[in-house]
Amino acid sequence: MNEVVDKALRGMALLSVRNIRHWTDRTFSFRCERPAGFRFRSGEFAMIGLMVEGKPLLRAYSIASPAWDEELEFYSIKVEDGPLTSRLRNLAEGERIVMRPKPVGTLVHDALNPGRRLFLFSTGTGIAPFASVIRDPETYEKFEQVVLTQTCRQVAELDYGRDLVARIAADELLSEMVGDKLTLIATTTREQSPAMGRMTDWIRDGRLAAATGAPLNPETDRVMICGSMAMLQEHKAICEELGFIEGSNSAPGQFVIEKAFVD
Ligand code: A2P
Repeated sequence: MNEVVDKALRGMALLSVRNIRHWTDRTFSFRCERPAGFRFRSGEFAMIGLMVEGKPLLRAYSIASPAWDEELEFYSIKVEDGPLTSRLRNLAEGERIVMRPKPVGTLVHDALNPGRRLFLFSTGTGIAPFASVIRDPETYEKFEQVVLTQTCRQVAELDYGRDLVARIAADELLSEMVGDKLTLIATTTREQSPAMGRMTDWIRDGRLAAATGAPLNPETDRVMICGSMAMLQEHKAICEELGFIEGSNSAPGQFVIEKAFVD
């Protein structure tokens, strides 16, 4: 390795990739080795990417695997002209990604006060941090009911989340931990499916209350939100109208938001 690359890589981890799975022509997931001593809280993100012309090209990616997993998992969109994702999508097993091993984020239990129900609202690849949160024992120690929602344009884009929940149900230890606390509400907006519409509309018109037993309530409920900027803003406005207070790591509250920062 030449000196320039060596310098660029200082402090970075090089991680061998495995289990690459292309879910749709717009999304894929992969797993990779976890550096020894790398600690993170479920729901956090890290900067990951590839070496391009001797320099690391990095983007923030939510870690989709739970904190106890011996590997790391990521779920990514493929952006046609995206500098990183257009390269990442061509990853092959055994190739290596780079990661700055400094996880951060607000979609963590530490940023929320105790509550009875936990709502995890996502669109598209915004489900990634929640793939981690719903496999974390702390989630079920802290909450009686966990509602994960994912809204996508097309039916096939819901496969990653559905597969995840099915794998939890099929796993002896995980299914015992989760019990009957977890509900997945998967909706589409641009292709016919049994459950249609944006979750913001479901909250406003009472469909979410009907599906979960009661309307969103800051006294009992805690909320995490992850998706596009427009989606974050709209969900945040709804939470604030309902009287929810935004939390952070230093001042826990009733809801937290994060952006799916890709390209
Ligand atoms: P829609 O098809 O009605 O725009 P995108 O790929 O544009 O990020 O969208 C992913 C999903 O998020 C789509 O189903 C989209 O619905 C939905 N969505 C987009 N904007 C919002 C918003 N402001 N609030 C809730 N859902 C949204």
